[in-house]
Amino acid sequence: MTTACAPGKVILFGEHAVVYGRPAIAAPVTQVRACALVEDAPRRQGVFIRAEDLQVNHYLGVPITDEHPAYPLESTVRHTLARLGIEAIPDLTLTVSSTVPVARGLGSGAAVATAIVRALAQHFGHALTPDEISELVYQTEILHHGTPSGIDNTVIAFGRPVWFVKDQPIEILRVGQPLWLVIGDTGIISPTKLAVADVRQGWQQEAERYEALFNRIGAVAGRARKAIEGGDTATLGRLLNENQQLLEAIGVSSPELESLVDAARQAGAMGAKLCGAGRGGNMIALVRPESAQPIADAVRAVGATNVIVTHVAATDAQFGHTRGEGPPLDAPGTLTC
Ligand code: PMV
Repeated sequence: MTTACAPGKVILFGEHAVVYGRPAIAAPVTQVRACALVEDAPRRQGVFIRAEDLQVNHYLGVPITDEHPAYPLESTVRHTLARLGIEAIPDLTLTVSSTVPVARGLGSGAAVATAIVRALAQHFGHALTPDEISELVYQTEILHHGTPSGIDNTVIAFGRPVWFVKDQPIEILRVGQPLWLVIGDTGIISPTKLAVADVRQGWQQEAERYEALFNRIGAVAGRARKAIEGGDTATLGRLLNENQQLLEAIGVSSPELESLVDAARQAGAMGAKLCGAGRGGNMIALVRPESAQPIADAVRAVGATNVIVTHVAATDAQFGHTRGEGPPLDAPGTLTC
């Protein structure tokens, strides 16, 4: 019996523009996670996938369509078995559970896939690197998102704050001061694929305007990196607000998101923005630790269906030791249950 888990994530800066080659910054969120349990099963059972949170009860190989909820899970299992060199379908039961809300910008698909890849690899005695895990999870991300940048699989497989540029080596970000975040859920399901497709349509129709907006988002991410490394949370708050304005300009915000953003700012947040694909899903607010609770209450009072208070731990140096809480650096992203 083998169990492995993976965290959710937030995109702090740069969503959407990252699909067009601009930099983005993301961090894991360990308050939500997906776990996968692998158990040996009777001979000739094959692979049975059980994921009650996702309404899946499914034998590998039973015909399904790409709309079926089991489709990405089956695909993850197939890619992983192939990567591990296992040709014959093994006899095992895979039980998946997840507290990462689906289609709300917290990386549910990538978290579930990462947990499955890790659990299968461990079960068959293989040690995959975060890079190898990320690459496998990316295959599943293509099913969820169509044209994913790769940021979700990267931040979740590495389990560290990352500076991400598509098709470039990942950089683990040094964090000068802990970043306290209030994450508020609009409760609105917003499939990433649709928001990304709408942005693409806008970009095709008004290439010059969208390119300029993506450039500005990329520049904000660059300034945010310096502020994160230098522990300058006041600047970081202002940059979150600037990034939100730019996301509004590309058409991925919504009245519900803006209501949570406004409530957080009015209650004292240093800055706030939507996170992930937008339209629905979650917003993040950068807060001082002592004001996290009143800001969480304010966000709830205007209709957030769920609120998470989390922090991105400070690190002493790149690849150095985590100060305070956070997953150990010698086991990047591995949250074994
Ligand atoms: O909705 P999420 O959390 O999966 O984030 C998607 C981020 C986008 O930049 C909108 C898409 C991508 O592939 O990077």
